Amino acid sequence: TLGRIMENIGYYNGTFAPMEQLSIPALDRGVYFGDGVYEALRVERHRFFALKEHLSRLRDSLAFLRIAFPMTDEALTAILQEAADRVDSDSQQLYFQVTRATAMRTHSFPESGEANLLVFSRGVPLADLTDYRRVVMLADTRWGHCNIKSLNLIPSVLAAQAAKERGCSEAVFHRDGVVSECSSSNLLLLKDGVLRTAPADERILPGVTRAHFLMIARELGVPVDETAFTLEEMLDADELMITSTSAHGLPVGFVDDKPVCGRDEALLRKLQKAYREFFWSSIEANA
Ligand code: PDD
Repeated sequence: TLGRIMENIGYYNGTFAPMEQLSIPALDRGVYFGDGVYEALRVERHRFFALKEHLSRLRDSLAFLRIAFPMTDEALTAILQEAADRVDSDSQQLYFQVTRATAMRTHSFPESGEANLLVFSRGVPLADLTDYRRVVMLADTRWGHCNIKSLNLIPSVLAAQAAKERGCSEAVFHRDGVVSECSSSNLLLLKDGVLRTAPADERILPGVTRAHFLMIARELGVPVDETAFTLEEMLDADELMITSTSAHGLPVGFVDDKPVCGRDEALLRKLQKAYREFFWSSIEANA
């Protein structure tokens, strides 16, 4: 019914096109100010994972930036579903962003103009959770509202590139030696059977995956501690896990080229397995 099934799809304000052909106006405030917010979610067999949580975080981000986005969750969901349905792949990563308006460049909000919706989705396989990954430590130079999923990601872009140049999967951010999160994921620590991660304050993005891992740990009777940890505590962890929509829960085995972790692999694997089970049963339930 949707005509051509594509490798990927883009959407902007009512128009669908392959991502490579999609264009947006130069005066979209997302272009020159990054004045907008975004979400990224997994789509398996054309069904969403944790859509409700992502929509709720989107509304929080919009409210913080005072962006009026009158579209209902139902209407937005219908567009996201159509995008997902137009892509052939059974395993997609779907991205969408809302920007304030299209208008001449002035820093303050424009007098008129409506929010813009950009969506894209493409096949991206689920992460392989087996291998221990490498990370680097970097100073967190981001702003004071990291709980907002704003389009302004320059510190994260530079950190991700620095990590890549050193053969690493992620960069761990710290403020004066206290770990916040990673460039595009949260960081969880296992020590003496306790799952620990920084509190969901303004220093981190409240990750959907992070919250699910905490929920699963509690269900398994694993104590949870939402207290920030230092770099020293990180280096002394039994296990470390990077969590995000795309990473699910990746084990960390090297920090700045030094071997770490590998001291409670049984619990690490148990949590990963329980997470994957929860993930797939949620997808099933969305039938
Ligand atoms: N990143 N922290 C940061 C800074 C992030 O950008 C992300 C997500 C997370 C994990 O959040 P969640 O579990 O809800 O995906 C934590 C997405 C994947 C991105 O930028 O594409």
